[in-house]
Amino acid sequence: MSIQRADVLEALKVVKLPSTDNNIVEGGAIQEVVISGDKISIVAKVNTPVLHVKKAVENGIEEALKAAFPSAIVNVTMQVEMAKPVIEEEVILPNIKNIVAVASGKGGVGKSTITANLAVQMAKMGFKVGLVDADIYGPSMPIMFDVEKERPLGKEVNGKQVMVPVENYGVKLLSIGFFTDPDQAVAWRGSMATKALKQIIFDADWGELDFLLIDLPPGTGDIHLTLVQSVPVTAAVVVSTPQIVALADARKGAGLFNMDAIKVPVLGFIENMAYFTPAELPENKYYIFGKDGTKKLAADMGLPVLAEIPLVQSIREAGDIGRPISLQENTPEAKAFYKMTQNVVEETIKRNKNLPPTEKVRMSETAGCTAN
Ligand SMILES: Nc1ncnc2c1ncn2[C@@H]1O[C@H](COP(=O)(O)OP(=O)(O)O)[C@@H](O)[C@H]1O
Ligand SMILES: [Mg+2]
Repeated sequence: MSIQRADVLEALKVVKLPSTDNNIVEGGAIQEVVISGDKISIVAKVNTPVLHVKKAVENGIEEALKAAFPSAIVNVTMQVEMAKPVIEEEVILPNIKNIVAVASGKGGVGKSTITANLAVQMAKMGFKVGLVDADIYGPSMPIMFDVEKERPLGKEVNGKQVMVPVENYGVKLLSIGFFTDPDQAVAWRGSMATKALKQIIFDADWGELDFLLIDLPPGTGDIHLTLVQSVPVTAAVVVSTPQIVALADARKGAGLFNMDAIKVPVLGFIENMAYFTPAELPENKYYIFGKDGTKKLAADMGLPVLAEIPLVQSIREAGDIGRPISLQENTPEAKAFYKMTQNVVEETIKRNKNLPPTEKVRMSETAGCTAN
């Protein structure tokens, strides 16, 4: 007797959908069922990149089908797809599921290094990732992604001219550095940059994205306001070093997103240059910028520390030659960025589960900010 699709679906109902009370069939995890003779091919999706969860579902499907159809050849393909927050009103950027801003109080704390590695690692995990380099003071993504000489091409979509992001290491990139002249005064660059930022986000052919990461300039300026006014930023992360001066500014950086009218959830802090480790003494940790400062600030603001990234020469070198260290496998540095990325993804999932989607913000010159 031939295998019926309905029987396959019935058999799959014994497999639980992770972190729900539902099974994978009713929970909508089954994307495709193809039956060809005694071959059953299943495509299933989970909303977390956590390996053991993915594996548990995959094994569950195999076991359930083997039990129901002992002579069948079972083939399971797993996909990872992020849950999208439910948006009831106007959907801005419907193809982009999560917009995550990476901010810092001070410059030079490693914000771009963190963002580049977050993007590369997310892409390695199977997410569709875009990256906007919005740092007017020092756009560094073209160097970090080794695409300094490239320029985005134009393309017409539905009669509208759009930019095609430059792509490397599985990450789609647009940088303000592609459009502004570094020799121009920052103020002039700034007014062009706010305009360019909107174009980069709205007039670009991003396609479907799980994450659009935004590398913001340090501090809290026009670019930050333009961003929260233009798009619903899903969440922000704040990068700091353990130095007292950096922490004071990091608090202000996080404070901007916390403002009543802005209310972009801050997922947590990333401590960069947490300690120095020399290549020849990989077990040694020297807390040259101080210890536990970020932990204290985070605890004080009720936020988690998502990562502690060491100061290691190879991280700097990898950035300088345009090959973020997350491209490596199994080095301690790459592992630190892997853990960081996992935490950012998990906190984003939690945020989407527990909080409503972010609203765009309308600013008024006199009254500060009012939510839309
Ligand atoms: N964890 C780290 N270890 C070693 N060097 C780092 C680390 N993080 C950043 N750097 C280096 O510090 C400098 C500033 O980092 P960058 O990411 O450009 O900072 P920001 O974007 O905050 O200005 C760069 O030369 C970068 O390679
Ligand atoms: Mg930077």
